[in-house]
Amino acid sequence: MSMQKPNGTQDLLPGTVEQWQWFEQQARDLCARYHYKEIRTPIFESTELFQRGVGETTDVVSKEMYTFQDKGNRSMTLRPEGTAGVVRSYVENKLYGEPDVSKLYYIGPMFRYERPQAGRYRQFHQFGVEVFGSEAPAIDAEVIALGYSFYQSLGIQGVQVEINSVGNPASREAYRSTLLAYLEPMKEELCSDCQTRMDKNPMRVLDCKKDQHRFADAPSILDSLDEACTTHFEQVKHALTTMDIPFTVNPKLVRGLDYYTHTAFEYKCAGIGSIDTIGGGGRYNGLVSQLGGPEQPGIGFGIGIERVLLVMKDQGIEIPNPNPLEVYLIALGEKAEQETPRLLYQLRSAGIRADKDYQGRKMKAQMKSADRTKARFAAILGEDELNRGEIVLKDLAQGEQQAVLLTEWIEHLKYKLEGSL
Ligand code: HAM
Repeated sequence: MSMQKPNGTQDLLPGTVEQWQWFEQQARDLCARYHYKEIRTPIFESTELFQRGVGETTDVVSKEMYTFQDKGNRSMTLRPEGTAGVVRSYVENKLYGEPDVSKLYYIGPMFRYERPQAGRYRQFHQFGVEVFGSEAPAIDAEVIALGYSFYQSLGIQGVQVEINSVGNPASREAYRSTLLAYLEPMKEELCSDCQTRMDKNPMRVLDCKKDQHRFADAPSILDSLDEACTTHFEQVKHALTTMDIPFTVNPKLVRGLDYYTHTAFEYKCAGIGSIDTIGGGGRYNGLVSQLGGPEQPGIGFGIGIERVLLVMKDQGIEIPNPNPLEVYLIALGEKAEQETPRLLYQLRSAGIRADKDYQGRKMKAQMKSADRTKARFAAILGEDELNRGEIVLKDLAQGEQQAVLLTEWIEHLKYKLEGSL
């Protein structure tokens, strides 16, 4: 029997991994610019964390979690999202005791038992940020801007930012009654999922793909917001406008996780079949206290890496290899071959990315390998060169070649590669 990877997972092979590394580096550079620090939390956590944090009525918790008993009979779950674990860590490590706002980011795998399709996987990866300790609308705007400028920095065109406010618990309670009054007369016609949601969490009904067309004239949550919630939302929109970040208000935007309060947002872009959400997030002012910490507000987003890479592919955006090979060493003859371990060691010790053939191939085949690796230079060592204490450097892109002394070749290469001695 041949073994296969689990459904909904992907092998990232050399060639593709370099794209991921480049992508991750863009995220890290951007986070440094915004002064966000990386946090790494466990890939599995207690099941209860997600039940309490994400919410038992959400699809993520009720249908999609990879849950198992460990050998100590504890119920554990592979994280379906990043926020709950980061909040747990923030509380457990008392990061709230620090004087400044905590601005954190993460990059890593998440797991959801969903029906796989293009852009939807069972193991997928998120680049996410979470900020704790500020209710300022300027932070909502900063987080939305960070996500938006991430897509911009990758060269993606046509990203739409949709925002909404889901208010505070009191506004939501008011909206709940208004919405239920609107939904009640059509209850029988709604799908069974919607009927259950009406009982447990009516706002989620608005998110239903099947029944969406029925809700064109549904009441807007924005009409149920109290004054403070409205002011917060207005200030977030104002800040986004001053930054020239284009957005649309979508009063039906209800995110699939229970913890949101006030600002909720999604980044959308065409190019992955029927899926268009490439990232999403929002405020979660009650979550830290709900998970045992003090009253501390939070806000963040999660961006699906696979989805972004698919959009980039669709838009024909080339991802550079962040670590291309610089020198391919070619030896001709036994004597030259014997020199190669030392020469390669010299190159690599000098910080130059270098390789050679290890299959005893002829000159022509070695040159072909050098081309395949897209190395910047081929360094060719024959017996004549060796006797003269020289090596030939061929610039593979421009075709020029030149013999240089072996006593100087590293300096020479460094100069060519870095433009400095
Ligand atoms: P989410 O909307 O569930 O939010 O997921 C965020 C992003 O992860 C989605 O927009 C999508 O790009 C990607 N994603 C989700 N599920 C899959 C999947 N099965 N396959 C591929 N990509 C997927 C959260 O996870 C929140 N924790 C975001 C957040 C952070 N809110 C506040 N802070």
